[in-house]
This record gives sequence, structure tokens and C-alpha cells, in this order.
Amino acid sequence: MSQSKTNGLNHIAFIMDGNGRWAKKRHKKREYGHIRGAEVFRKIVRHCADLGIDAVTVYAFSTENWKRPKSEVNAIMSLCRKYIDEALASDAEASVVFLGDKSAFDAKMRSEMEKLEAKTAHYRKKICIAFNYGGHAEIVDAVNALIAGGKTHITEEDITGAIYSGIVPPPDIIVRTGGEYRLSNFLLWQSAYSELFFTETLWPDFTSDELDGIIEEFGKRKRRFGGV
Ligand code: FPP
Repeated sequence: MSQSKTNGLNHIAFIMDGNGRWAKKRHKKREYGHIRGAEVFRKIVRHCADLGIDAVTVYAFSTENWKRPKSEVNAIMSLCRKYIDEALASDAEASVVFLGDKSAFDAKMRSEMEKLEAKTAHYRKKICIAFNYGGHAEIVDAVNALIAGGKTHITEEDITGAIYSGIVPPPDIIVRTGGEYRLSNFLLWQSAYSELFFTETLWPDFTSDELDGIIEEFGKRKRRFGGV
């Protein structure tokens, strides 16, 4: 698919759901599904870059995901570390930004995240990784930051500028894999006019071809942003 076929798509976001079920179907541990999921994440991000899409956001770890067994949480943390190490060592030309509360991570992980963000900050293309992210928490943090900065009357523009992902425009498309039909506390402020796509495909089975089909369908939707 050529860049001209991305139909004005600047920012696409993914809820990468279904890793656990994908692994279970193969009689493997859930961690195995996340390993495969991380590979698919790399492939899809590369495909989006090839298509000329400026920003990709993925939901990799929610504020609620701490409730999972420790072994699974550790596996997701390791996959994130591995990605950071690889990205630090590579010269991929995209800015990596972590959306979420970093204070929950150990000092080493935090400093690696910040190192990667600082090293890549000048690139135009953005890869946003929602990690220890919650949409409610994001709005509350933004409001508190505005109050701490002396604001007494808060506008929509203030919140848009203060949320974690204020550096990217709102997503044009949010794709959720795994057959669930909800946003699960993802990009609640930013999703006001996003086009939503849900697929039964489990994230480890999600392909560039399926994404191309979604982008084609996106081109057929009429976006009115509240107008007529
Ligand atoms: C949801 O599937 C997936 C997650 C909670 C984790 C996603 C994380 C990765 C793909 C690792 C990549 C991370 C980085 C930063 C490279 P699920 O486990 O809820 O699936 P289920 O609904 O089938 O149980």
C-alpha cells in the first residue's frame, strides 16, 4: 500500500489484546504470547513507518495490569527492557515516548526509558508506548499539574496540552484486537473523534495485510467531527 493510500491517517493506536489466549491455544504459558506479541508490535510499527504514518501508539501495560501474576508482569517488563536496549543500540529514526506513570518502575528502568526518550526526542515520527498507563489517571494528573501551575479555570485546550501524549495529535484510528469491544481506559481524552476498529484476530496473529484493510475501510468512513 502506498503512502497516498493512508487516507490522511497521521496517528494510529493499538490495543494489543489476545496474547494470553493465543498462547493458551498452543498450550504455552501466557508469557509466550507476550513474546510473540512484542515481535508483532515491531513488525506493525515498521509497516506503519513504511506507509508514512507519523505516530503509532500501543497499549503495552495498563495501570490495572499489576494485578496479573508476578511472573507475567516480570515478562512484560523484560520485553519492554529488551525493546529499550535494542532501540538505544539502533539508529531507527523515530522518537520513542512512554505514556504513563514512570514512578512505579525501578530507578534503572526509569533512567533507561528517559535515556531513550532524550536520545530520540528530535525525530518527527513518534512511537508512543503506553506503559503503566491509565486514561483516568492521565486526565487527573493533567488537571493536578495545571492546578499546581497556578490555573484556577481549566479549558479543554489546557487539558489537551497537559496530558502525557500532548506531543501527538489525537489518534485517527484505534484498533483493538482480541475480540473485545471496549477501550479499557485507553486514550479516553484523545479518542473523542477516533475511528474505532475491532477485530477478532488475536494480537500475535495480527498482520500488515489486516492493517492495510483497516486503513482502506478508514478511507470510506465519513468523519464529521460533530459537524454535518
Ligand atoms: C494484552 O493481552 C496484552 C498485554 C497486557 C501486554 C502487551 C505487551 C506486549 C505485546 C509486550 C510488548 C511491550 C513492549 C514495550 C515492546 P492479554 O494478555 O490480556 O491477552 P488475553 O486477553 O488473551 O488474556
